Amino acid sequence: MANDSTSPALTCDVLIIGGGAAGLTLALKMADSAKVTILSKSSLKLGSTYYAQGGIAAVLDSEDSELSHVEDTLAAGAGLCHRDIVEFTVGRAKECIEWLVEQGVEFSKDTSKASSTITGNYHLTQEGGHRHRRVIHAADATGKAVFEILAAKVLAHPNIRFITNSIAVDLLTSRKLGRAGNRCLGAYVLQEESGKVNTIAARFTVLATGGASKVYLYTSNPDGACGDGIAMAWRAGCRVANMEFNQFHPTCLYHPLDRTFLISEALRGEGAVLRLPDGTRFMPAYHELAELAPRDIVARAIDAEMKKTGCDCVYLDISHKPADFIKAHFPTIYARCLSLGIDICKQPIPVVPAAHYSCGGVVVDRNGKTDVDSLYAIGETSFTGLHGANRMASNSLLECFVFAFSAAEHIKSNLAATVMPAALPRWDESQVTDSDEDIVIAHNWDEIRRFMWDYVGIVRTTKRLHRAQHRINLLRNEILDYYSNYRISTPLLELRNLALVAELIIESALSRYESRGLHFCLDYPEKSAVANDTILQPGARAQE
Ligand code: FAD
Ligand code: SIN
Repeated sequence: MANDSTSPALTCDVLIIGGGAAGLTLALKMADSAKVTILSKSSLKLGSTYYAQGGIAAVLDSEDSELSHVEDTLAAGAGLCHRDIVEFTVGRAKECIEWLVEQGVEFSKDTSKASSTITGNYHLTQEGGHRHRRVIHAADATGKAVFEILAAKVLAHPNIRFITNSIAVDLLTSRKLGRAGNRCLGAYVLQEESGKVNTIAARFTVLATGGASKVYLYTSNPDGACGDGIAMAWRAGCRVANMEFNQFHPTCLYHPLDRTFLISEALRGEGAVLRLPDGTRFMPAYHELAELAPRDIVARAIDAEMKKTGCDCVYLDISHKPADFIKAHFPTIYARCLSLGIDICKQPIPVVPAAHYSCGGVVVDRNGKTDVDSLYAIGETSFTGLHGANRMASNSLLECFVFAFSAAEHIKSNLAATVMPAALPRWDESQVTDSDEDIVIAHNWDEIRRFMWDYVGIVRTTKRLHRAQHRINLLRNEILDYYSNYRISTPLLELRNLALVAELIIESALSRYESRGLHFCLDYPEKSAVANDTILQPGARAQE
């Protein structure tokens, strides 16, 4: 192809931005019908998928039922889940598990049973909100087991080009280019090592960029979870919804050398209990399901007990279970804790809540289709209506697979009728210079993450939300100025996205005059009789 000033460096049928569970699944589902390019920023393992522990929710036991999975999801979601989407997702779960098994994922078996589950003798564990054992898993490293199999298949597929160490900067849309309509035409992509920005043109673009929990100081998420997809979609003209519902996982390790390591809810599913430093168990006083109550309730209970007693952490205790059982079910957690001097077979684990999951995101329909033509969003970056005000454990990976399946089907059915975009402009950096003060980026990152933790955390007040809004407004201008005048880098792009996502979270939280699920505001402690999604529409800020 001629390399004139408007030719893209690369073209493909489907550009997938993100190589986690959602992106990898979509790539494999599409690859027999289309040329696929899949991007991941920095290292391959930067997404959350690799670190997923507990498992994938699916009705596989003949004693369980889809209705029960639906009702548990609705209850955990505190009245805000979209029932039709919950039914749709639950209804495709078994098909997804069968596909993963076909790909070669080895889930843990229950050797004491001949064939207790619909798909075989798999061990099913339990987690918060589930009233039945329905979480299929690969010990306590389910994400790694899934990721390694899918990534190997993607890397080996002749129709898939997997580009790592490349971060999407922004989406190219016909509206931004002054052309008719609003269709996504591809993306600008920064090659992290060379600093070169390429234009990738695509007939379809899919955001599979994961969540935004890195907006908080303490999080279970790896470094890449900056909400890039949500920010890019917003700038391209997509609505976002329910951004105020950022989930805090109740039990992350509390240790000076590791404040991000997750202690899976599956420990509680297998009998672990939460205790105060003096050994008192407290969850039965908060909910009938005690330690297995939905996540928002457990995290808030821990927060309340820590504030009441002044303790720095609470303790999760599974030491009453046989050591062989603990080591077989939780080998990763056992080894990580032991390396820090905590023998979970003999002593309780110090834990605190930390930001874990973005329930809100880019508004999509059941095919993962966004408001912008030829643009899809799947996985944690999307808002499908499945999670409501609080996601139930292990429904996230499930959502990644189900919506990757449906997006693939929808794209395939529209492939023949969708043309490759006409020539696209190259990235223009003629007006920018190298920054001589990159430390400012790190300072701004720290500032946002700290005030989000302090003012937009588990328990909120209107005054604190306003305080956060004031700070983000000041920072926004500083960051945009930086973005406009200096050569871009991954930390700068992530900061720009993180700041926008923080702004959307604060704005959404301020517009909810009630407490529901993960959004608890002391000024409005009651739940409203009517449940509404918070939907933000890009207006004047769409071109930021
Ligand atoms: P991710 O897996 O986060 O992948 C995002 C991808 O996008 C990455 O490849 C990243 O590099 C890429 N990317 C991001 N921005 C850009 C950009 N600008 N340009 C290029 N590439 C980009 N859920 C469950 O259901 N069960 C569990 O047991 C479970 N355990 C969890 C344990 C931990 C510690 C964590 C953090 C989460 C867990 N979750 C679990 C949640 C679940 O893992 C995630 O929601 C899910 O993996 C998200 O998958 P994804 O494909 O949407 O995104
Ligand atoms: C966990 O294993 O506790 C995480 C499960 C999830 O986030 O769904």
